[in-house]
Amino acid sequence: MRTIAVIGAGQMGTGIAQTIAANGMNVMLTDVDLARAEAGKANVEKALVKLMGRGKIEAAEAESLLARITPVADYAPFAEADLIIEAATEREEIKNAIFANAGKVLAAGAIMASNTSSIPITRMANHSPDPARFIGLHFFNPVPVMGLIEVIPGLATAQDTTDRVTAFARGLGKEVVLSQDEPGFVVNRILLPMINEAVFVLGQSTAGIEDIDKGCRLGLNHPMGPLQLADFVGLDTCLDIINVLYTTTRDSKYRAAPLLVKYVEAGWLGRKTGRGFYDYTGEVPVPTR
Ligand code: 3HC
Repeated sequence: MRTIAVIGAGQMGTGIAQTIAANGMNVMLTDVDLARAEAGKANVEKALVKLMGRGKIEAAEAESLLARITPVADYAPFAEADLIIEAATEREEIKNAIFANAGKVLAAGAIMASNTSSIPITRMANHSPDPARFIGLHFFNPVPVMGLIEVIPGLATAQDTTDRVTAFARGLGKEVVLSQDEPGFVVNRILLPMINEAVFVLGQSTAGIEDIDKGCRLGLNHPMGPLQLADFVGLDTCLDIINVLYTTTRDSKYRAAPLLVKYVEAGWLGRKTGRGFYDYTGEVPVPTR
C-alpha cells in the first residue's frame, strides 16, 4: 500500500495521517471542507514541532513527513488510493453516507476501512461498494503513541482483505489484535464498562473525581484514571460507545451512567470543550465536582 486516504481530520484522523506519513506512505486527508482538512494538517505540524522541541524528530524528517500529507477538498482523488480509512464522527448515518460517496471512486482492488469504535462492521459494509473489501481498522488515541490496532473483519470480508490490512497495520509498527465483529470489539468492550462504572462510583458519591482516578492510576498502574481518560476520549464518544453496547446486546450491564448522560447534555465533553470531569481552562486541570 502506497497511497492512503483518510476521511475525517479530527483527533483520530490526524493521528492516523501522521502515523502513516511517518512510515513513508502518502496520505490524502479530507473532511467536510478543505479548511478543516488543512486545519487537521496544521495540527499534525503542531505535534511535530513539539516532538522537535524534545529532540524526538529532526526538522528535515518532520518536513518530509508533512509533505506526504495532502489535504483534499473532495473524494475524487481517492481513486488513486490503495486504502480508504474512514475516521469521521461516530454516527452510523454519517459513516454510511461516506462509504456510499467515497465508494463511488474506490479503485478496483482497493480496500475501504472504518475506524469505528463500536459500530458493527457487517452492517456498515452494506453501504460500501464491495463488502468483501470492507473491514474495521480500529486505532487508539493518541495514534502515533499507542501500540495497538484492532482488525475486525465483517461477515462478508474476504480473507485477502484481512491479510492486506493486517500487513498494513504491522507496517505502521503496531501490534494487531484480530477481533470478531461483536459489539465494542475487544478493547472498548472492556474499557467502556470500566469508564461507565467509574461514573456510577462518582454519581453515588463513593469517592470524588481525583480519588477515583488516583485509585486506578496507583492501584492498577493505569497511565490515566478512568475519568481523566473519559475526558481524553470525549464524553460524547464514551456515551455513544456504551449506548451501542447497550442497544446491540440489550444487556442492562451496559446501561449508561445517568451522570455521564448529564455531562454530555451539558456540553461538557472533556478536553475538546475545555470541561468534562475536569476543567481544563486554567493552568492545571481541576475537578468539576
Ligand atoms: N506524535 C508522536 N509522539 C507523540 C505524540 C504525537 N502526536 N504525542 C505524544 N507523543 C509521545 C511523546 O513524545 C512521549 O514520548 P516519550 O515517552 O518517548 O518521551 C510520549 O508520547 C508520551 O507523551 P507525553 O510525555 O506528552 O505524555 P504522558 O507521558 O503524560 O503520556 C499518554 C500521555 C500517552 C496519553 C498517556 O497518558 C497514556 O497512555 N494514556 C492512556 C491513553 C489511552 O488509554 N488511550 C486509549 C484510549 S481508548 C481509544 O482510543 C479507543 C477509542 O475507540 C475510544
